[in-house]
Amino acid sequence: MNRLLLCLLPLWMAVTPVHALTGDVARGEVLHKKCLDCHGTGVYAPDKRKITSLKALRKDVKRWGTYYAPALNDQEVEDITAWLNANFYKF
Ligand code: HEC
Repeated sequence: MNRLLLCLLPLWMAVTPVHALTGDVARGEVLHKKCLDCHGTGVYAPDKRKITSLKALRKDVKRWGTYYAPALNDQEVEDITAWLNANFYKF
């Protein structure tokens, strides 16, 4: 019986949906280039920023993402958030 469960485990893991998106920092850097139309990276500097959590950062990236047509999709929001966090916010 245990052997059967062990055999089924990889199958179960393969079909379990992945809920959390993972941001791709490199892709985020490329995607962020379009944001530079309005501001440089100065708004993310510690003495300028208003964002105080990763959750708020993601929300703001999403907010700015709706400025574009088509708006940034969830994966793109996640990628830019990852890049901003890795380089500036470091939450
Ligand atoms: C139409 C101009 C415009 C565009 C396009 C734009 N931004 Fe901004 N952004 C602003 C302005 C103005 C502020 C400062 C005032 C504010 O927060 O509303 C700002 C602030 C921010 C902040 C908050 C910084 C902080 O910590 O206080 C983030 C994060 C941000 N922008 C990300 C982005 C991203 C990511 C994109 C591209 C998807 C983008 N912005 C595109 C104008 C723009």
